Amino acid sequence: MSIIFYYNNEDRDVVESQLRAELPEHQIAIWPQTNQSKYAIVWNPPEDFFDQQPDLQCIFSIAAGVDHLLDHPGLPANVPIARLEDAGMGEKIAEYVLYGVLHAQRSMTHYALAQGAEHWDETPRDRHAHKFTVGILGIGAIGSVVASRLLLNGYKVKGWSRREKTLDGVDCYHGQEQIPAFLSQVDALVCLLPLTPETTRILNREIFNQLPKGAYLINAARGRHVHNEDLLAALEVEQLSGALLDVTEPEPLPAGHPFWHHPKIVVTPHVAGPTQASESIKQIADNIKRFEAGEPLSGLVDISRGY
Ligand code: NAP
Ligand code: GLV
Repeated sequence: MSIIFYYNNEDRDVVESQLRAELPEHQIAIWPQTNQSKYAIVWNPPEDFFDQQPDLQCIFSIAAGVDHLLDHPGLPANVPIARLEDAGMGEKIAEYVLYGVLHAQRSMTHYALAQGAEHWDETPRDRHAHKFTVGILGIGAIGSVVASRLLLNGYKVKGWSRREKTLDGVDCYHGQEQIPAFLSQVDALVCLLPLTPETTRILNREIFNQLPKGAYLINAARGRHVHNEDLLAALEVEQLSGALLDVTEPEPLPAGHPFWHHPKIVVTPHVAGPTQASESIKQIADNIKRFEAGEPLSGLVDISRGY
């Protein structure tokens, strides 16, 4: 069977050779080559990607998030989409979030500002991990791995999802009506939601104002979850003490954007959970085998809800 592949990240060659090794019996075309493919394996395909692909039977996202497909103007209707489920990214994002939580708990933004002012400030600011609450928006495949890591490090963890959920050791909330209770007493808010019409700009003034004053924000999901102006305003009035942003809108962040030099913002270039080539391609190859055997796809996206 033939596959069309589009993936333009730095590690493209590694991912491609992994793909050829996992699926030796398939003919693989690298876009813009075309081969009337049955399957597309993609991350962020260009606008005309689907134009020459009338026979697609399934699209596999080399990413957990599928906004790059659902927002695509040429996405064919009625073709199932399967996404990556954890595939090793959860552990990497857990490290990233732990770094941000430690930064917040140990008041590193405050010390960086004091250093800039040559000010030796010994005011005690430390809080014990067991008295520091991390709230995770989105406790799915990745959020639940992050929650486990934070619990292992002694933090109190709250989680918020769309549907009711239980996770060992995590104080779980769901739905809009429980958001005020979820946000109260959260010292660091972590976003690991998919980007959907319901979650776009969810990190806005209304949410920030329900957090305790001085809470810290970590966004490792999508830049469009953040209302940028509201974030800058919340930092200005010290409603938020700082933010760690792995994702921005737009990406890459353009020269002169206020986030670049903001003293309370740390920006990283969408690297919190890099694709783990071997686990990702193995997961996709297993899914193709499942599809060909007539079995249900794993990680099937519900297009109507957007994730
Ligand atoms: P997932 O398994 O689909 O989990 C999504 C979670 O968000 C679920 O708990 C879901 O609730 C919840 N959710 C969705 N819409 C909601 C809403 N309207 N209200 C409340 N909760 C809602 O997704 P995942 O695999 O963990 O990935 C999450 C996101 O991480 C991806 O979409 C992507 O944007 C981001 N990501 C970033 C990187 C990076 O490098 N920065 C890497 C990988 C992924 P239910 O449990 O009730 O469905
Ligand atoms: C990366 O951002 C992903 O969604 O996997």
